[in-house]
Amino acid sequence: MSGRLEGKVAVITGGASGMGQASALMYLREGASVIIADLNAASGQATLDMAKQAGFEKRARFIRTDVCDEAQIEAMIALALDDFGRLDIVFNNAGVGGAMSPIVETRSEDWDKTFDIMMRAVFYGIKHGARAMKNTGGGAIINTSSTAGLGGGSGPAAYSAAKAGVINLTKNAAVQLADDRIRVNAIAPGGIHTPLVPAKTEDEMKVFMKGKQPWPDTGKSDDIAYAAVYLGSDEARFVTGTTLLVDGGLLAWGPGLFPHSGASITAGMRMSSTGEADKV
Ligand SMILES: NC(=O)c1ccc[n+]([C@@H]2O[C@H](COP(=O)([O-])OP(=O)(O)OC[C@H]3O[C@@H](n4cnc5c(N)ncnc54)[C@H](O)[C@@H]3O)[C@@H](O)[C@H]2O)c1
Repeated sequence: MSGRLEGKVAVITGGASGMGQASALMYLREGASVIIADLNAASGQATLDMAKQAGFEKRARFIRTDVCDEAQIEAMIALALDDFGRLDIVFNNAGVGGAMSPIVETRSEDWDKTFDIMMRAVFYGIKHGARAMKNTGGGAIINTSSTAGLGGGSGPAAYSAAKAGVINLTKNAAVQLADDRIRVNAIAPGGIHTPLVPAKTEDEMKVFMKGKQPWPDTGKSDDIAYAAVYLGSDEARFVTGTTLLVDGGLLAWGPGLFPHSGASITAGMRMSSTGEADKV
């Protein structure tokens, strides 16, 4: 199916790399006009060139944006309104790994910087995106969280706490903005092979996820872009305040006490008459 975002105007932060770039290009293919916003001007220009080569020159723009700066978020939204006349979708997706050290060694400034990029920026995107959408009858806001925001031990402390915050902010904003017909949802990616993760090749990514992710294939940027197309489209008209896991079953597996198939452990167990598993 194509044209799922026909006529819509979207802003995508972190749109110059990884899942943001894949989303920008997929949004263009689905008929949207797209403002690609990113701190990295070189990869922003490269993404814009890709969009042009694919024939989307008229519907694509790049604006260098530091999402931690409220004035720059306002400029990013203003570009959508000035060049395309409206705003339908904001995808607050920019992110970094943030403070990596153990809690007892994490410096306050590194903690704060992580929260600036991963949480305060999402607040700015919701605030200014919603202000614009209120004037045009509604829209969709999508925030990138992470499986790290849902499970302990899935990421560094500051990153995980900020991503957990994104999930609650998503719900709160969804409630506040429902009357304005602005839907607010989050996507929680699992391990996705992008420049953000240490694995350089797909094979390295497979090794990195081995024993953690049940699904055999590697998570790719397009897997997130497909979710972002759905949440941004009218197909999701009744979906708000939710967090969509796109993680190859990473969180479904939980603590992983059993192997994926369960076979080697269950082979040595039987159910007693009370339904309890006994070792035989
Ligand atoms: N890759 C994964 O496995 C994974 C898993 C869960 C969540 N995420 C989240 O997905 C989002 C996208 O990550 P990705 O994997 O595509 O990474 P990526 O590094 O490929 O892309 C992130 C983009 O954000 C931009 N950016 C960073 N700081 C910025 C700032 N201050 N202002 C504007 N732009 C800025 C970067 O320049 C880059 O283009 C992030 O929020 C990340 O935390 C990634």
